[in-house]
Amino acid sequence: MTLASFLHALQPGLAPPSIVTDAADIAPWLTDWRGRWAGVSPVLLQPSTCDEVTAIVAAAEAHGVGLVPQGGNTSMVGGATPPADGSAVLLSLRRMNRIRAIAPDKAIVEAGVILDTLHREAEAAGARFPLDLGARGSATVGGLAATNAGGVQVLRFGTMRAQVLGMEAVLSGGLVHDSLGGLKKDNRGVSIDHLLVGAEGTLGVITALRLRLVPGRVERAAAWIGLDHPARALDLLRRLETATDRIEAFELIPAASLDRVLRHIPMTRAPLGSPLPWNVLVEAVASPGEEPPAALLERLLADAAAAGLVADAAIAHSNDQTEQLWRLRHSISEAERAEGPAAQHDISLPIDAVPDFLTRQAAAIERRFPGTQASGYGHLGDGNVHFHVRAPASAGRDWADSGEGKAVSAFVHDLVTAANGSISAEHGIGQMKKDELARLGPPARLQVLRAIKRAMDPHGIFNPGKLVD
Ligand code: FAD
Ligand code: MLT
Ligand code: ZN
Repeated sequence: MTLASFLHALQPGLAPPSIVTDAADIAPWLTDWRGRWAGVSPVLLQPSTCDEVTAIVAAAEAHGVGLVPQGGNTSMVGGATPPADGSAVLLSLRRMNRIRAIAPDKAIVEAGVILDTLHREAEAAGARFPLDLGARGSATVGGLAATNAGGVQVLRFGTMRAQVLGMEAVLSGGLVHDSLGGLKKDNRGVSIDHLLVGAEGTLGVITALRLRLVPGRVERAAAWIGLDHPARALDLLRRLETATDRIEAFELIPAASLDRVLRHIPMTRAPLGSPLPWNVLVEAVASPGEEPPAALLERLLADAAAAGLVADAAIAHSNDQTEQLWRLRHSISEAERAEGPAAQHDISLPIDAVPDFLTRQAAAIERRFPGTQASGYGHLGDGNVHFHVRAPASAGRDWADSGEGKAVSAFVHDLVTAANGSISAEHGIGQMKKDELARLGPPARLQVLRAIKRAMDPHGIFNPGKLVD
């Protein structure tokens, strides 16, 4: 690669702080959140305008230098970690963090705006941004769009794709795609916005987004429910959805995950008097004038208990209590990371197949790989669980990347594929699952993904080594 000529071409137009060369300042961005991948980036580019991104893309293509777009670096699949051979440089969008416009029904924001900031700005405008996840303090809207992130409100509002109403992005040739005007109807062929959502930075760089906001004046309440089997959780979900359209989240948490949270995360306590093998965290909302959400949950859960679905429940009666319940849920990733080595899988299945996967198939995996412990938590309402297989006690830190760890993941992914599921529900493919995607296809999907990649990234500079080649 010709890094020196690439940098020469960029200067003097691009000066500090848009270019960072100090290794100590670059280092924190070279490893992923789970600490599974480490990369090399001789410089860190952090433009503050779309024009600067355009100049960077043009120079990268001219000099054959790869660009790794990065937002908050919270990817669960090594998507924002550069290759280890120094052939690409990090392109951070974090300085592009302006709110260009905000109104009760939409926000036009730059890619580096952090999710938590957007939530607060939307609230100040009397609205809500209807997507939330545990990494809200770091994840950026650009990263959320690039991964088509999900989170805990997909049940009611859909994934990030449903929130993207328009986009500004720099494509090959330094061309700027701009649909920020947000036309409701635009049938000039396929949607470029939709090509870039979920492309994980492999087709271009998102610099700004027009995002959907929803009415903000709602009251929320959450309940923590104990059950004896995930099939009961599914029955409960169906019952709630038949009774009301005001359920926004429905998260499944096995006793194993709750135990890990209570063990590793300070200031947490069990919400129920005696532990049950499975838990559900459900959230309901109400607009002014509607039955308050806590009363709604109380009424519906009493019916469900009478029908034998619910073994125990605790309903939050204040925002503080609701936040405490959500803290337990959002701390699972951190607690799972602290627990030690595991092979992690982010899978989706036809929703009726989830309870069997979490019980019978989990037991089959533990028998097949003695000493492992398999459990899954997450977005049951979306048929999406984070299925972790913990390493045997004697295993080393890198077990997930060892022969046995890889065999476990292949086994899990084969079961998922046989059940017509997906090996990536919401986290993306990144570098973690690239080989598995290539192995498991399906062929039509691979053919289209590869053809789009070749057409939109003819010089191979956008996030090389991720998703597909
Ligand atoms: P990064 O990690 O920096 O990048 C992610 C990918 O997007 C990379 O491929 C990168 O190249 C690309 N990218 C980033 N910015 C741009 C851009 N401007 N243009 C083009 N490409 C870009 N994910 C979920 O879906 N649901 C969850 O519930 C969830 N919970 C999480 C909880 C925790 C504690 C953590 C650590 C992560 C969680 N994630 C979840 C994963 C992660 O937060 C999401 O994938 C998020 O979308 C990543 O945003 P980011 O800004 O950190 O992107
Ligand atoms: C979650 O739902 O908590 C996440 O997507 C992160 C994880 O997989 O742990
Ligand atoms: Zn998740």
